[in-house]
Amino acid sequence: MEDDLVVVSNRGPVSYRVDDGGDLVARRGAGGLISTLGPALAARARAAGRGEAAGADTWIAAAIGEGDRKAAANGPVDSQGVRVRLLAVDEDDYRAFYDVISNQTLWFAYHGLDNRSLTPSLGRSWHDAWEAYVSVNRAFAAAVAEEATDGATVIVHDLHLSLVGGFLAQDRPDLATAHFAHTPFCWPDGLAVLPAGARRQLLEGLAGHGAVGFHATRWERAFLACCAEAGVGAPSTFVAPAAVDPDDVGGVAAGDECARHLAQLDELAGDRRLVVRVDRMELSKNVVRGFSAFDLLLEEHPELVGEVLFLACCYPSRESLPEYAAYRRAVVAEAARVNDRWGPVVHLVTDDDFPRSVAALCRADVVLVNPVRDGLNIVAKEQAIVNRRHAALCLSPQAGVWEELGEAGALAAPPFDLVGTADALHRALTMGADERADRASRVRAAATARTPADWLALQLTAARRPAG
Ligand code: F6P
Repeated sequence: MEDDLVVVSNRGPVSYRVDDGGDLVARRGAGGLISTLGPALAARARAAGRGEAAGADTWIAAAIGEGDRKAAANGPVDSQGVRVRLLAVDEDDYRAFYDVISNQTLWFAYHGLDNRSLTPSLGRSWHDAWEAYVSVNRAFAAAVAEEATDGATVIVHDLHLSLVGGFLAQDRPDLATAHFAHTPFCWPDGLAVLPAGARRQLLEGLAGHGAVGFHATRWERAFLACCAEAGVGAPSTFVAPAAVDPDDVGGVAAGDECARHLAQLDELAGDRRLVVRVDRMELSKNVVRGFSAFDLLLEEHPELVGEVLFLACCYPSRESLPEYAAYRRAVVAEAARVNDRWGPVVHLVTDDDFPRSVAALCRADVVLVNPVRDGLNIVAKEQAIVNRRHAALCLSPQAGVWEELGEAGALAAPPFDLVGTADALHRALTMGADERADRASRVRAAATARTPADWLALQLTAARRPAG
């Protein structure tokens, strides 16, 4: 049935760890995809009167760690009205699929992170990893084919699973499929790092879906340009920026944990104003240049020393990859350099504590979001919902969310230009109260104009639109 829905993604809404007694302990899955898609599916379940009981919707996700693999063997579970099936694949194939192809190759190409003089460098092991990527995608397509009822709708999420729609088009042509990309897409020159065969397979796999969606028009244009250059027939495309559920993040902001962190932040900041950033410890987030720009701000405006504290909440990400370990060291070193120069002006926290991150966004006077490139950037929307001080948003025009929030009142923080970023921070710290309030309310209105349910509805409509 068309209304039956199968969603597919690498991370699922629930993940498991094995506790000391050998029991499985469930917790909410991590990451931005979960915090946007989870509420959208829960709202759909509530609207269908399913409440906590799983109904027609199924979410297929990878069994990532040991706990997930054990849980996968016990069969599907219910999570907020959705039936969740964790799919366990060969562990070596999974590492090649996730680390080598998804994170080191596609992520780097889509975000323009390669240092082309040295990376990527695609030896035999890379070609083997590509075969593993294909085979994991095939396994996901087979799982969908098992789960999906006749004529059901299937939405495949994120760069890990680009090829699922191509396999389904062959095996289950009755299904209405869409792929949704949570990352940027790159222009043909960026995709040229892939061997021609893999490049074609990637584009044909994406084009095998009934429709392909993006958070921003610029990524849609880049994808269409890649299809045109490779001579791959482009599928129907759509743009649907993800939305944040105000109740979800607002609930955390109203909670006791957040209140405790707010009290600690008040003590830490004292009378100083707070510049805040909240990110994964991630190369594309541009944390190092953010600190360098703050250093320049203090150099050019020494009157701000002692007046402003930069609180950076950078929680761990992809720690098994050497590129991420090196980036973390660079972030810590740059924060230390700035503090050596000016005293304790940068406060960097590197553990994962979501209520503390939300407290930081509540208390911020300025929020810096300066990625070198970002599919959307959900923090820019979250801060607009929870902030209590009319924070000024300094936002990279290279973030997909710029298309929604740039015009609405964010200040441009050009990601590679330290002078431009320092100027944006200065303007954010010195503008009058009326302008701050006006910009913050316009950013908030734009950030909350759509709901997660609207976002999901656009995906369903795109998947079900007749081809042609
Ligand atoms: O934004 C793309 C994405 O893959 C999200 O789905 C995910 O939340 C985030 O990056 C973090 O990636 P990972 O799942 O590798 O931790």
